[in-house]
Amino acid sequence: MTDTSQRAASRRMADRVGSLNRSKIRVMFGLAEREQRETGRDLVRLEVGEPDFGTPEHVIDAAAEAAHDGATHYTENAGIPELREAISDTMARESGVAYAPEQITVTSGGMEALSLAMLAIAGPGDEVVVPTPAWPNYVNQIRIAGATPVTVPLSEESGFDLDPDRVADAIGEDTVAVVLTSPSNPTGRVYDEDAVREVARVANAHDAYVIADEVYGRLTYDEAFRGAASYVDAPENVLTVDSCSKTYAMTGWRLGWFAGPDSVVEAVTSVGESTTACPSSVSQQAALAALTGPQDAVAEMKIAFEERRDFVVERVAEMPVVSCPRPEGAFYAFLDVSDLSGDSFAVAKRLLAEQGVVTAPGEGFGDAGEGYLRLSFANSLDRIEEGLDRIEAFVRAESE
Ligand SMILES: Cc1ncc(COP(=O)(O)O)c(C=O)c1O
Repeated sequence: MTDTSQRAASRRMADRVGSLNRSKIRVMFGLAEREQRETGRDLVRLEVGEPDFGTPEHVIDAAAEAAHDGATHYTENAGIPELREAISDTMARESGVAYAPEQITVTSGGMEALSLAMLAIAGPGDEVVVPTPAWPNYVNQIRIAGATPVTVPLSEESGFDLDPDRVADAIGEDTVAVVLTSPSNPTGRVYDEDAVREVARVANAHDAYVIADEVYGRLTYDEAFRGAASYVDAPENVLTVDSCSKTYAMTGWRLGWFAGPDSVVEAVTSVGESTTACPSSVSQQAALAALTGPQDAVAEMKIAFEERRDFVVERVAEMPVVSCPRPEGAFYAFLDVSDLSGDSFAVAKRLLAEQGVVTAPGEGFGDAGEGYLRLSFANSLDRIEEGLDRIEAFVRAESE
């Protein structure tokens, strides 16, 4: 190393970097990639949280055409007006929520919408309440904003439904927001509406927002989905995040949105101006085609996910020792492996080493997820069947 590069390497990083937890999903992903590279083994990949389908052809065609026609420049920070209008219409039609186009800002995925929201509303001294098990990125986003995450474990007995008493207990004078993810990643739970209404009421009484992460809202299997802002008493207090990623198999296009009251949308857009300036112009055209074009592909994917959900639930019910709550939405099953030896990370690593099945350890979703493995059923029925055969062999061998 030269003197200059040594000096650069020893220069200190901001404290916030040290406070971040690397997601265990990515750790398993890395182990699987290495295993595949080094041994060429046939691994069944059930750790990945994205649809296995391709983006619908008409969406790709529309984006390509728009790019040829010059949609290759910066756009307004909040996104092109046609798209904000299409998002407003879609949210009203699909989740029953009423946000005017001006109350929507388009972002680089739901991920950026959530990050910008945290930066816009939370800072040092503020707390953000997160019921867990939860998608791990919230806690990191809250820490990056300089605020403090307050995690609230939900109970296994209720299948990880939202417990309004526990969550209300965690809301205090420093709380600026409560994050509600329904349908949930990793449990697939769709929260009871009365529970959401009650949490929203308590949050509102403390001048705290509800951040409703509804990126899986179009993927519910038993009942039609309603966005939190359509039924709580103070919808102006709900900040809704959604995206094209899961609904339209568009994870790589990085296109999502944030919807909320004018003042917060303005703040989010203003923070966004100094991060990405605006989402990709081509992806905005793709999203416009996705939202306004034929919805058959969405319906077909949903039918496929539902069939896989039923298959997973049926197969797990036949296995000894393990069990899983019935997922009501999203494409995850949360498998209780607490009767196997070792923590969830150890079980996930053994399952990879012994059977070549890759899963996401529950501890990565907060303490409440310990003892569980998340299985993604965003994979073909054949591969899911192969994965479950191997999991069954693993469980039977371990429980003998
Ligand atoms: C609960 C939840 N919210 C938000 C996101 C962000 O998705 P995207 O940035 O692709 O829209 C994900 C992605 O996995 C997720 O699981």
